[in-house]
Amino acid sequence: MNNDQVIIFDTTLRDGEQSPGAAMTKDEKVRIARSLEMLKVDVIEAGFAIASPGDFDAVNTIAKTIKDSAVCSLSRALPADIDRAAEALKPAARGRIHTFIATSPIHMQHKLCMTPDQVVEQAVTAVKRARNLIDDVEFSCEDAGRSEIDFLCRIIEAAIDAGARTINIPDTVGYALPHQYGDTIRQLIERIPNADKAIFSVHCHNDLGLAVANSLSAVVHGARQVECTINGLGERAGNASLEEIVMAIQTRKDELKVSTGVNTQHIVPTSRLVSSITGFPVQPNKAIVGANAFAHESGIHQDGILKNRETYEIMRAEDVGWNTNRLTLGKLSGRNAFKSKMEELGISFDSKEELNEAFGRFKVLADKKSEIFDDDLQALVSDVRSNSEEEKYRLIDLQACSTTQSTPEATLTIEVDGEPMEARSQGDGPVDAIFKAIESIANSQAHLALYNVSAITSGTDSQGDASVRLEKDGRIVNGSGTDTDVVIASAKAYINALNLLHSQRTKTNPQTGHV
Ligand code: KIV
Ligand code: ZN
Repeated sequence: MNNDQVIIFDTTLRDGEQSPGAAMTKDEKVRIARSLEMLKVDVIEAGFAIASPGDFDAVNTIAKTIKDSAVCSLSRALPADIDRAAEALKPAARGRIHTFIATSPIHMQHKLCMTPDQVVEQAVTAVKRARNLIDDVEFSCEDAGRSEIDFLCRIIEAAIDAGARTINIPDTVGYALPHQYGDTIRQLIERIPNADKAIFSVHCHNDLGLAVANSLSAVVHGARQVECTINGLGERAGNASLEEIVMAIQTRKDELKVSTGVNTQHIVPTSRLVSSITGFPVQPNKAIVGANAFAHESGIHQDGILKNRETYEIMRAEDVGWNTNRLTLGKLSGRNAFKSKMEELGISFDSKEELNEAFGRFKVLADKKSEIFDDDLQALVSDVRSNSEEEKYRLIDLQACSTTQSTPEATLTIEVDGEPMEARSQGDGPVDAIFKAIESIANSQAHLALYNVSAITSGTDSQGDASVRLEKDGRIVNGSGTDTDVVIASAKAYINALNLLHSQRTKTNPQTGHV
């Protein structure tokens, strides 16, 4: 491994999925994994195989599908977790087991109820077991950001002796400060006698908004793997954002003196895909991937840019893929052109029926909207697939009207377990009326935590992408729906959320052990 190269380890599908409401289906995870492979990330953490049969299946399918990136499964430092991870990773061209145990006094005492000696012993046993099953083993000291440096040195030396080839130092609760975290990495590399036998990795959470700064400080002090997620998705305030890490390394190579193998032109398409699948919008002023990241409003800036782009721009929008949302297909495009365009976008169909269904929807869309862009196709597949999941509720018919003179009203028909049911309701607006009408049938008693609509492409004929987040009994789901009519998109999103609430499987959280 070239010492100037930083390994990019993407954990969107594992830590990203731990964001409340970001649960993804297997199919959605495979689509994101394909996009990450096109982005040329080095390692894809595909999930936590023991968490549920669904997680196992997702890791296993991604391991079968992805050829160019290593595929990783998380596992606690427990025999059953490690065996399950190894089984899920069997088909991988390059598989990695990532095993972890907490090392901070507060976690060892209150969460694990174990002594430091017991923690070291369990870590060593886990790493050895993993190494007997797979060559590539990563060991993480959970809550390293609040662990004692002497204990970290001790457990890491033992883990390297046991066969771990990547040592990850997570700032699990986002507590670290850049100068201090960088210094911890420096000390570990200097003090641990066998440190040269492993790559040091960092994994920073963003509770204080410092995840990217902490990761870069660690790189300056010798870390050569960064764990990060697309759009900074992740538990609580999220993880270090992949796009910011990669572009900081590329743009400030003069200072950082390292590089990554990431194909930066695929950053924006991957960001859009993750946002549309999870229903987590990207804030407009988000670095690199926000809609305003390259927009210049002030006259002075515009004037400067026209004279010389570098007066106000440190990166080129096209280098991160802002211009790659290409106009692709039109009304006259045939099934083969549609299929090969989808393959180019990393989307394949499991059956002829699925291709036919998607192609049928494409034709309907092309009749409404003359120009079809890559993002329209991604949204169309999301819509076809979210509707092919187990469906209790299905939208059959909808009329909603809003006038300046009267109260908005909606009338709709929904199938519930195959039985058509009708409802009519009034509301503050057509969407409010629709949601009330749907609820009068479903009576889910879920709390509407978030409703958002955004345009997929520019222009008034753009499809609307609606997200609805529902919360019930501590469970959170994000439904999404797309349509050229934003009111219909909103109804689809609400119904999709109800279906998710109804079907969502339980799974174990790796850090708490709870579902
Ligand atoms: O934040 C964390 O500590 C983690 C570990 C499981 C690597 O996600
Ligand atoms: Zn984490």
